[in-house]
Amino acid sequence: MTGASSATRPPGSPAAGAKTLHLHDVHKHYGGRTVVDIDDLVLGAHGIEGLIGPNGAGKTTLMKLITHVVSPDRGRIEYHSPDGTVLLTQHSPDAIARMGVVKTNQVIQDFESLTIRESLLLSLAGAEQEKFYKVLRDKAFLRRADQEIDEYLDIFTFQDPDGRAGSAGEKKLLDILRCLLLKPRFLLMDEPTAGLPQEETDKVMELMRTKTQETDLSILIIEHDLDLIWGTCEFVHFMAEGEILLQGTPSDVRSNATVAEKYLGASHA
Ligand SMILES: Nc1ncnc2c1ncn2[C@@H]1O[C@H](COP(=O)(O)OP(=O)(O)OP(=O)(O)O)[C@@H](O)[C@H]1O
Ligand SMILES: [Mg+2]
Repeated sequence: MTGASSATRPPGSPAAGAKTLHLHDVHKHYGGRTVVDIDDLVLGAHGIEGLIGPNGAGKTTLMKLITHVVSPDRGRIEYHSPDGTVLLTQHSPDAIARMGVVKTNQVIQDFESLTIRESLLLSLAGAEQEKFYKVLRDKAFLRRADQEIDEYLDIFTFQDPDGRAGSAGEKKLLDILRCLLLKPRFLLMDEPTAGLPQEETDKVMELMRTKTQETDLSILIIEHDLDLIWGTCEFVHFMAEGEILLQGTPSDVRSNATVAEKYLGASHA
């Protein structure tokens, strides 16, 4: 896998016009247990970023707090974009998605009765910010949509794009493509490649690199596949027991003793 450095932007430097998420004093507990406890955290200043940490660290909950699927007990989560600053905790998950802050892996079940093409078309219609019935009768829109969908279907392999997603891998891939067709500006990917064949994983990551270079999309990836994190991300946040314990370049994080002890184990150290 190639490194994450870009020809156009030195690794580790903020992308021009980047969107960032700023978390301040964000806290979440379940029962008596604190699962997220963040003092100050900025996400998205470095193109593709990684969020790693052991099972139960609070990674998924952190993403759900950002998209407001879960409400924090306290704290501020701000979305900074060239359009201004928005306090996400004051908005619904749908409104947050319309602002372009989109999480993979949360919507697929709603569309299981649709074919792969129909699901992708609905995402595109959603991105138009119009009522579905209106754009779905618009011939020019449908022509454009078909073209855009075909571009993705040319890259990725589905057994039958005119049928329903079959395997877990196909559902995962469909979820990612649906999120991309929503035209996100900040994409939160929660273990995007778990269950995908290596070839499709490589294609997804290649596409993500292209998107962050050619557009100003910011991406945060949660993954336990650390080779993918080291090879793809420009910056990595390490989370354990609800807290961000360390942040830095992949080589900084990889060589850190705390990360090795709490997560990587002897084989990676
Ligand atoms: N809705 C919930 N109710 C009660 N406890 C929850 C809930 N959601 C998450 N938790 C707990 O919060 C902790 C953090 O969970 P979370 O899913 O955020 O971890 P994670 O870092 O994503 O782990 P993994 O790498 O296994 O996906 C876990 O102990 C989990 O059991
Ligand atoms: Mg998780």
